[in-house]
Amino acid sequence: MGKLRVLVLVSGGGTNLQAIIDAVEAGTVTNVSLVGVISNNKTVKSLERARNAGIPAFSVSPKDYEDRALFNEALLAKVEECEPDLIVLAGFLVAIPPAMVARYSGRIINIHPSLIPSFCGVGYYGLKVHEKALERGVKVTGATVHFVTEGMDEGPIIAQKPVAVEDDDTPEILQRRVMEQAEWIILPRAIDDIANGRIRLVDGKVKHI
Ligand code: GAR
Repeated sequence: MGKLRVLVLVSGGGTNLQAIIDAVEAGTVTNVSLVGVISNNKTVKSLERARNAGIPAFSVSPKDYEDRALFNEALLAKVEECEPDLIVLAGFLVAIPPAMVARYSGRIINIHPSLIPSFCGVGYYGLKVHEKALERGVKVTGATVHFVTEGMDEGPIIAQKPVAVEDDDTPEILQRRVMEQAEWIILPRAIDDIANGRIRLVDGKVKHI
């Protein structure tokens, strides 16, 4: 069997994308070919990170389309052009079109910066997740990798890692700690597990073999 063709979708800084690129280059993620990076913004650091690693980088921005339906169509067309086996949402802050979820059912994964089902769903993305966690006063947060289904952040959970909240945390400090101690570890590992057949969906739950 050939390598798993992985397409990464991003919106911002792309530190999770970088963690994936580094893990593939270091050989801690194997059996993977990074076939493309798509951003919904034009001028993001992520596209530069992709190009530096020799990965084809594209932007599909809602600003270039009259309405959401046309943007969704263009996004799906670009995704299909890349012929991915697995789509990784690495800080992709756009709702995934239902047609894409249907087309790639069981082949899209997402990283979320909290322990789902806490601080997730509509309106919980990026720094906002950490603002809400600090507001609530939780002592432990973390990150989750899950399969993407139609409901936002509702798909089967692949991996979670807890991270301690410290007394003087700001949202930015907490975000950085969650990235360093959880996201950049569990996302590449999940890709490696999928690429090497160590993950299976059984009755809607993820089993590690
Ligand atoms: C990450 O913290 C990721 O978990 C989060 O956006 C950030 C992107 O950072 N994703 C979500 O909130 C999805 N709901 P990055 O561009 O540096 O990887």
